[in-house]
Amino acid sequence: MKRFQEKNIVVTGAASGIGRSTALRLGEEGGKIWCVDINEAGARQTADEIRAFGSEAEASSFDVTDYNTCKLFIDSVIEKWDVLDVLCNIAGIGGMKRFEEETPERFQSMLAVNLHGPFNLCHVAIEHLLKRKGNIVNLASVAGVIGQAYTASYVASKHGLVGLTKSIAMEYGRQGLRANAVCPGAINTPLISNFDFPEGIDTSLVDRYNFLPWFAEPEEVAAMIAYVASDEAKYVNGSVMTIDGGITSG
Ligand SMILES: NC(=O)c1ccc[n+]([C@@H]2O[C@H](COP(=O)([O-])OP(=O)(O)OC[C@H]3O[C@@H](n4cnc5c(N)ncnc54)[C@H](O)[C@@H]3O)[C@@H](O)[C@H]2O)c1
Repeated sequence: MKRFQEKNIVVTGAASGIGRSTALRLGEEGGKIWCVDINEAGARQTADEIRAFGSEAEASSFDVTDYNTCKLFIDSVIEKWDVLDVLCNIAGIGGMKRFEEETPERFQSMLAVNLHGPFNLCHVAIEHLLKRKGNIVNLASVAGVIGQAYTASYVASKHGLVGLTKSIAMEYGRQGLRANAVCPGAINTPLISNFDFPEGIDTSLVDRYNFLPWFAEPEEVAAMIAYVASDEAKYVNGSVMTIDGGITSG
């Protein structure tokens, strides 16, 4: 399938995990991919891999939490590419804490990366996406759909992201722009393997995070993102699409 030929696409979090798999998948399907990550070497490596199978790719390294940097970045994308068709906000951070051990600083940094980052890029890219009747895919989580013990900051950031996505979908849908949230459960990436369970927690509260006794691979999420970002999904707008092995079904 070559669903992204002549599509210009920005993917954040492209150095690792789901962002990397998504950048590769959309590039394999003919998309021109701009790989973004705070990890410069990782973003460059993903772009190199995309070029190796014959698609165009660029790489930039910056922190998505800084609005002005995001603005300058999108300006440079438009300067080079003229147009932007798809924005995939995938960069994110996570982690577990008992609520009483959360700090205001940790709460703020979770919101900064997982919510302000996507806000920043959506906000600076929207005029360009509107011109192309393009679309936005925001990588939320099951934590954007249900409450979870020991991850209050993460859950708050992802619920915020789901709300942001639905509101953009409502505001711009009639102008032909789509915005959707993809909500994975447990995916085999560095983010989840670095999760530290606080000591002495009630494990019955966290068992349900992983309903199936295995993790999915990031390529499986990339396949869902590729569908929702493609023209095949042109009636899919404001959707909150889970890929969670059933975690949120009961
Ligand atoms: N892995 C899972 O089980 C899972 C489940 C649900 C949702 N998610 C979400 O998927 C997304 C991708 O996570 P992943 O699992 O692939 O993790 P990952 O750690 O492999 O990838 C995250 C990437 O985001 C980048 N990043 C972090 N902060 C950044 C910043 N301020 N600016 C720019 N780049 C930054 C990192 O450098 C990294 O390359 C995240 O939004 C995460 O919340 C992951």
